[in-house]
Amino acid sequence: MSDLEKINSSFKEKISTVKSKDELQNLKTEFFGKNGKITSQFKNLGSLDLDKRKEFASNINKIKDDLSNQLEQKNLEIDTNEINSKLKNEKVDVTLPIRPYRQGKIHPVSQVIDEISSIFSEIGFSVAEGPDVENEYNNFTALNTPEDHPARDMHDTFYLEKNKKLLLRTHTSPVQIRTMLKDKPPFKIIVPGRTYRCDSDQTHAPMFHQLEGLHIDKNITMGHLKGCLDYFIKEFFEVKNVKMRFRPSHFPFTEPSAEVDIGYRIENDKIVIGEGDKWLEVLGCGMVHPNVLKNVKIDTKKFQGFAFGIGIDRLAMLKYGINDLRAFFETDYRWLSHFGFDPLDVPTNYRGLSKW
Ligand code: DAH
Repeated sequence: MSDLEKINSSFKEKISTVKSKDELQNLKTEFFGKNGKITSQFKNLGSLDLDKRKEFASNINKIKDDLSNQLEQKNLEIDTNEINSKLKNEKVDVTLPIRPYRQGKIHPVSQVIDEISSIFSEIGFSVAEGPDVENEYNNFTALNTPEDHPARDMHDTFYLEKNKKLLLRTHTSPVQIRTMLKDKPPFKIIVPGRTYRCDSDQTHAPMFHQLEGLHIDKNITMGHLKGCLDYFIKEFFEVKNVKMRFRPSHFPFTEPSAEVDIGYRIENDKIVIGEGDKWLEVLGCGMVHPNVLKNVKIDTKKFQGFAFGIGIDRLAMLKYGINDLRAFFETDYRWLSHFGFDPLDVPTNYRGLSKW
């Protein structure tokens, strides 16, 4: 057997066992690489005399073409096998039932903020916002809160610095100051947002939500305040009548100040808002103190108005029958899927707030 015949038969034997692209590449290198068996045969050409050289060249070229073809064939075969086995193994069973998917829910606090914003927007209030990290001037001083007021105490306020200049806002009221410093009266805003105090039990959390209201204009009176809150409470609880009582109170930033209670009763272990002989405190309010208006350079001879502050979490608990505030902030998905709301069910005054 000549060298060429030996090469030819060893190639045939080897290619019949090749199964993968890697093996194929190795075989190609063995025969056609720089020092490959076919390549080195070409190197012999120079030492032959003319006649023999022609014959040898023709033979070796034939073998080279033949082996190259076989390599190409094998490559195709491997590709086809790969595709076929993929098609066989990756079958899609279109008769399988769909996987159950989890739909996200809107948190009751977000839902209630949307509801409240919708209710107040109907009577001309717009939404304002401020930062959670506040300075003590906006949070206390500008709001007429004296240096020795108990709210400034370390036990109530999270201060961020030793010198007490920066803090986590203890209420949404500083946004009154920010808004009035930025623009000119009249003002008619609500401010939903996060607030912070050192406090934690079944009805208090260190972070909670408030809604501030501010209406400053010419000739605004306590009568407007009462009308506004009466409208809000009825719309929010989706009832026709609500018993309301204004109890004299004290806040440094309002004069006179009041706390508002709403009537309720318990029926079959459930709370019924609006009627009954029990009272529930829901918000603080009053006429904005002249000192506050002076601090933001508003002419108190021309302008006056009212402000109020509502605990949002408390309202959400009352409306949706949730009795532990801490559950709001535990991020328990089971709780949220029970108490949460459909994301497509956006509350508006026309379509309804909590139901369609
Ligand atoms: N900022 C008060 C608080 O956190 C709530 C409040 C009371 C806000 C009366 C007001 C107001 O705007 O007029 O307890």
